[in-house]
Amino acid sequence: MAPQPAAPVLVDGHGRRVGDLRLSVTDRCGLRCHYCMPPEGLTWLPRAELLTYEELARLARLCVTRWGFDGIRITGGEPTDRAGVWRLVELLAPLGVDLAMTTNGTRLEALAPRLRDAGLHRVNVSLDTLRRDRFRELCGRDALPQVLAGIDAAVAAGLSPVKVNAVIVRGRNDDELVALAAFARDRGLALRLIEFMPLDAAGRWVPTAVVSAGEMLERIHRVFPLARPPAEALSGGHDEPAARVPYADGRGEVGVIPSVTAPFCDRCDRIRITADGKVRTCLFALEETDLRGPMRAGASDDDLAGRIAAAVAGKGPGHRIGRVDFVRPARSMSQIGG
Ligand code: 5AD
Ligand code: SF4
Repeated sequence: MAPQPAAPVLVDGHGRRVGDLRLSVTDRCGLRCHYCMPPEGLTWLPRAELLTYEELARLARLCVTRWGFDGIRITGGEPTDRAGVWRLVELLAPLGVDLAMTTNGTRLEALAPRLRDAGLHRVNVSLDTLRRDRFRELCGRDALPQVLAGIDAAVAAGLSPVKVNAVIVRGRNDDELVALAAFARDRGLALRLIEFMPLDAAGRWVPTAVVSAGEMLERIHRVFPLARPPAEALSGGHDEPAARVPYADGRGEVGVIPSVTAPFCDRCDRIRITADGKVRTCLFALEETDLRGPMRAGASDDDLAGRIAAAVAGKGPGHRIGRVDFVRPARSMSQIGG
């Protein structure tokens, strides 16, 4: 018999333990990444519809104390675009779990020390290109220098590890795979190359735009040999969304996230809470469970826990990208929370 865990844990209807919470603090963002938002932006949520930091922290505390969640990630939209986001970090730090943030990096230069002092452990910074003109084209703003300064500031502040997320899209930035790898190797950053998923508000996703994780590794391997051949690295199974492969010369590693070609759904341990207080059990879920309404109507922790547990019980087995019955979610990544 498997050893019984000491504390009750939250298990979904497919036997997966849920222990990773993603909190989106805003749907807004100053960038317009082509794989996420249309140039004109989206209709933003009115302020009153956003959970307050206290409300977000209450839900996080509940997940940690009741079910032993061991990781929290603050996301958006762009989390640093919400005023005083370090106050949320201060509220979450005492929970004592792994505390991370996904950010576009544009405000990190100013904020990194403050976030660290508030108790943030680490950041993932989105960076899809190292060319200033292309950044403007792909992300809608001339912000590459700010993002690079933000990455340096995160490293200097000791937010560790600093990971760099790059969504690779064929014909847009796949010619920079090796340049991104070199950039990360030079700075000791952990690079995560992400397959393009059909989660863009503009509806630009087509299967041919996806560069597979296998192809990404092959192309890097030709220039910076990997310690294991790409096919082997991807077939071995990996216990996190990224398959990580060290370079043969020992200078760091590259991670690929095969969300489309080899999804991690079987081992997914995540749930998300959107900025407007809805539980989503999958990026591609078509249903959401509202917590804001009940919370503002005076719901107890037991009541809220029951709603979260019910949502988790209904968590689907995984997404169906590429199958005929795949239905795109109505929300983009910025509205769900990466
Ligand atoms: N496909 C893959 N990754 C995406 N992200 C946003 N939209 C998509 C998409 N359509 C990722 C970006 C960013 C994080 C917040 O979400 O990498 O780093
Ligand atoms: Fe903003 Fe992130 Fe969407 Fe880019 S991917 S537009 S940085 S929310």
